[in-house]
Amino acid sequence: MVLPRRDAPPADLAAAIRDLKRERDAVIIAHYYQDGEIQDAADFVGDSLQMARFGAGTKARTIVVCGVHFMAETAKILAMDRTVLLPDTAAGCSLADSAPEAEFRAFVAAHPGHQVVTYVNSTAAVKAMSDVCCTSSNAIDVVRSIPREVPVIFGPDRFLGDWVERQAGRPLVLWRGSCEVHEMFSAEAMQRLRQDNPGCITLVHPECPASIIALADVVGSTKKLLEAVQAGPERGTWLVATEPGIIHQMQRARPHGTFIPAPAAVRGGPQGACTSCNTCPHMKRNTLEKLWSCLATGGPAISLDAALADRARLPIERMLKIG
Ligand code: 13P
Ligand code: SF4
Repeated sequence: MVLPRRDAPPADLAAAIRDLKRERDAVIIAHYYQDGEIQDAADFVGDSLQMARFGAGTKARTIVVCGVHFMAETAKILAMDRTVLLPDTAAGCSLADSAPEAEFRAFVAAHPGHQVVTYVNSTAAVKAMSDVCCTSSNAIDVVRSIPREVPVIFGPDRFLGDWVERQAGRPLVLWRGSCEVHEMFSAEAMQRLRQDNPGCITLVHPECPASIIALADVVGSTKKLLEAVQAGPERGTWLVATEPGIIHQMQRARPHGTFIPAPAAVRGGPQGACTSCNTCPHMKRNTLEKLWSCLATGGPAISLDAALADRARLPIERMLKIG
């Protein structure tokens, strides 16, 4: 039994994290948007779908999720018998917040006979109202798995939904949520960068509006964008329209490559004037020190009502079966 400890942070946080992981029989799962030092401390780094799969498959007694709250909640739903830690429980998500439980319930009730597909960037309560979940990796396959004659609600991301609608070639009833990071990229600034860097390859996450997706050479989940870099030229130049934390892995895959984080527009300000508004403030709440602290103290841990978890698990499991 590991006793809670609240010592001062050690000088070598990375080494202390390795020791505590062994003591607690813990694994650390990190999203690509985490700071590089957190990604380096993790046992597994991936996109939302890979994180869910890894969480479902691990036998470790403690799962530390370095990401945002819905990711830790998904891990808990799939492993209710395990301890799931999130270094900072205030790490939320504007997309998950954009679908409050009561409003989403009313939306579903207003569309009888529809199948409900929800992006995993949603609360357990919203997942529990869904027929099947999806991530940006598998959203098209998930929608295609539903017979064409069955109408589909898609939420909470309207931009992902809009892209899936075009790719799958069928109309969807969209909930109108969005990601505060991906909706802010500046098409004008990106066009300028493309002109200034001829031959650069533009990578775009499908949480972006259609005007940004229209500039893309590759559209896809964080995993797909990273794979494009891994398969691309050694000395390529890449314009990256997603959270720039992923550049850590891209730079590792192509040390001689040049990676340009796409700039965000400033709300109400001149286009393309901000190069730091493209970072996710929620993801960045986690730090190496908070990661050490949660392993040292065993908290904060995610707790979830068992009946709610049972209802939310079904659509996640359906998604995991689809691919
Ligand atoms: P993926 O990792 O599934 O591409 O999702 C990106 C994201 O915004 C996670 O919050
Ligand atoms: Fe949520 Fe957007 Fe941050 Fe992803 S990048 S966690 S969708 S706010």
